[in-house]
Amino acid sequence: MIDVVAVVGNPRPGGRTTRVAQAVAARVAALGSGEVETIELADHAARMFDPSDPALGEVTTRVAGADVAVLASPTYKASFTGLLKAFLDRYTGDGLAGVVAVPVMLGGSPAHSLAPDTQLRPVLVELGAVVPTRSVYVVDTEMDRLEETLDRWWSGAEAVLRGCSVSLPPPMKILVTGGAGFVGSHTVVELLEAGHEVTILDDFSNSERSVVDRIGRITGKRPAVVEGDIRNPSALDSAVAGGYDAVFHFAARKSVAESVEEPLLYYQVNVTGTVNLLDAMSRHGVRTIVFSSSCTVYGDPQELPVTEDHPFGPAANPYGRTKQMMEHALMDLAAADPSWRIASLRYFNPVGAHPSGLIGEDPRGVPDNLMPYVTRVAAGRLPELRIFGNDYPTPDGTGVRDYVHVVDLARGHLAALDYVVGSSGYHAWNLGTGQGSSVLELVETFQRVTGRTVPYRFAPRRPGDVAATWADPSKAERELGWKAKHDLADMCRDAWRWESSR
Ligand SMILES: NC(=O)c1ccc[n+]([C@@H]2O[C@H](COP(=O)([O-])OP(=O)(O)OC[C@H]3O[C@@H](n4cnc5c(N)ncnc54)[C@H](O)[C@@H]3O)[C@@H](O)[C@H]2O)c1
Repeated sequence: MIDVVAVVGNPRPGGRTTRVAQAVAARVAALGSGEVETIELADHAARMFDPSDPALGEVTTRVAGADVAVLASPTYKASFTGLLKAFLDRYTGDGLAGVVAVPVMLGGSPAHSLAPDTQLRPVLVELGAVVPTRSVYVVDTEMDRLEETLDRWWSGAEAVLRGCSVSLPPPMKILVTGGAGFVGSHTVVELLEAGHEVTILDDFSNSERSVVDRIGRITGKRPAVVEGDIRNPSALDSAVAGGYDAVFHFAARKSVAESVEEPLLYYQVNVTGTVNLLDAMSRHGVRTIVFSSSCTVYGDPQELPVTEDHPFGPAANPYGRTKQMMEHALMDLAAADPSWRIASLRYFNPVGAHPSGLIGEDPRGVPDNLMPYVTRVAAGRLPELRIFGNDYPTPDGTGVRDYVHVVDLARGHLAALDYVVGSSGYHAWNLGTGQGSSVLELVETFQRVTGRTVPYRFAPRRPGDVAATWADPSKAERELGWKAKHDLADMCRDAWRWESSR
């Protein structure tokens, strides 16, 4: 039984905040067939500061009898911080197994609603120190998609709340190279939210320093940062000396076109840099690594969907070759010393952005990848999209890829970490949805969900592009319990929110 009390601050009775709180509470209660009780506190922001208010005494009594409290309020005018502070002041420290904080952002703009975040975050952190806490942000203009928002949140929160007697694995100390970049930053958010201690090692050659602050705004915890270049062995040696349990290795150059023009840069960063890192890890006794690989290792796939057993094809460019070389290096390392625990994650096409709109893909110069190009055209920053090839043997002639939401991808890294810490040797998993979408499907979905127009024209095929590729992600589902949850519409919506909130 999990009995849940939902405390709703500043509501119109039965209004949106109450509906959100009840939807969250119902999910939690369903874990243990418990009951939900709702307490609505009208105008609580004004009342919270009056300790003699009898309504607050009643709340305290009813919360004390529940297993989980859901605290929901608009973020507007410090209403939410007022609710949390009042709760913290009165919480006596027994009874509750978990709290779900539900800030409801007014006006639909995360940027606007997160403005009081500087006040909200410390209180959330304090609350989390008192009793396990997960937060779910809901934007009030997206009420028609409330269940989708809750699905996203649920995948992270369920483990914390399940059974109300959660034994989470102990937090780990993790070094994340390239943690300020696109996939790295989203993974750092998930790691911090799961309670791990994170240090980012990045030279900011393809990311902004402000990403670190924005990660702090999302999670309430600012990761430590070491500014350094993985090509520099002594910088790596001192970075890795920090007593880490595991390394997540994202730092790399990733542009196919640039790799053709500047192959040595790719061999220096992606190959020498990775070897330097493995060498430093070996010296300091850190033998657990989660490595960013890519579906490019398969080359032009001979069979679809692509399984992990598909042989590495001839790489079409130096970038792809560096990923193949590093996978071979990792396999050799595990064969030579079975105490290594290695996860190689073969990403398909990561797109989308964090639903807060605070972090996302931000390539320098003209984007190489489709989604940031599409969002920039939609925002008027670029005149039109060029679609390379409409004569491929695909249903509409344009290239087909397996787009995967970056938050799903980030969660795949945590699932892989959980797996490898309990095993040894080298393991590879595809991270994709298992669904192929053509360029035109992506553009049409983007236009439909955002209401923006994306002018495009067809251009000749690009050398090195394959016609179609999509993953068989069943190994990750079977072994890691990981499955992508977001569809193409979510990816487009979140990518656009990120683009338009900047
Ligand atoms: N985004 C994709 O489409 C995709 C697909 C498959 C695999 N990958 C791989 O995933 C990883 C992360 O990709 P991403 O999209 O987040 O890229 P990104 O460029 O956004 O992030 C890479 C980060 O590494 C940093 N970096 C680059 N060179 C460095 C160096 N010499 N020393 C220290 N830091 C350095 C950059 O500043 C950046 O913050 C890469 O290894 C990439 O090859 C990406």
